[in-house]
Amino acid sequence: MKKICVIGSINTDLVALVERFPKPGETLTGKEFHTFPGGKGANQAVAAGRLQAAVAMFGKIGADLYGQQTLANLAANGVDHRGVAVVPGVSSGIAVIEVDGSGENHIVIIPGANAAMDRRVIDERFAWLLEYDIFLFQLEIPLDTVCYTMAKLKECGKTIILDPAPAQILPDAVYPCVDFLTPNETEMAILAQQEIDSEDDLNAAAQRLLAKGVGTVLLKAGKDGAYIIDRSGRWHMPGFAVQAVDTTGAGDSFNAGFAVSLAHGGDLRDHVRFANAVGALATTSQGAQSAMPGLEEVRSLLERG
Ligand code: RIB
Ligand code: NA
Repeated sequence: MKKICVIGSINTDLVALVERFPKPGETLTGKEFHTFPGGKGANQAVAAGRLQAAVAMFGKIGADLYGQQTLANLAANGVDHRGVAVVPGVSSGIAVIEVDGSGENHIVIIPGANAAMDRRVIDERFAWLLEYDIFLFQLEIPLDTVCYTMAKLKECGKTIILDPAPAQILPDAVYPCVDFLTPNETEMAILAQQEIDSEDDLNAAAQRLLAKGVGTVLLKAGKDGAYIIDRSGRWHMPGFAVQAVDTTGAGDSFNAGFAVSLAHGGDLRDHVRFANAVGALATTSQGAQSAMPGLEEVRSLLERG
């Protein structure tokens, strides 16, 4: 089995459950408050750990209680966290999240220590990084570090999966480094800098990213599953019907599921089907990581179809 490495953010999610989102200037009384481990990077690492992959996390936390709790949580989920450094004098990453009655979310991020993930960290650890095969990136650490690291790893023949979230416009030099790009529809529109109102728009946007050098686009379509789009065509891989309670972390789980399946080898379509199942299950309870499934749960959903 290939080894997976996540380079990215570690947050603590402060979650308010609300009936509906407040309007600007409005004060609402919420229903519940929870503290959950989160961050797109750590979510992907934990999801992979739960699926029994060999996975390591490289990132930064502050010298505070939140940071220590996230570290303990990585360990508890089988993630090798020796690559997580403590930065004195800044807070750990925090996400303030509201989840409404239908499971939709609004998120505000305070990067804290995640912002200190600079090129130097990568240079210092580069020989160590080469022990891994499949790399998962997201966009909650500085873009410069993501671009720099992906380019160096790609040169060494590593497999790169980029989750372009939260969405931002990327320099063109990034795209040839990416084997698998996993936007949702909103992120795709931002990356391709075009509006997406139809299937045709979607295809045009994906083609634009492929033309810039991306290997394969995996478009995440929420409950509708995902689309595989590459130079030879486009396939829809339908989603799994589950009772969604909280979609936070569903995209992260998809990416982890994809990487884990890829690590085992086999067919691209099977990897995406597996990823869809992991993503679906992750929506079935509150919190990003709390619902992330184990292998048995994923297998039984795959068998049910
Ligand atoms: O993708 C979900 C994650 O985004 C949350 O866990 C939160 O920390 C934000 O980073
Ligand atoms: Na969830």
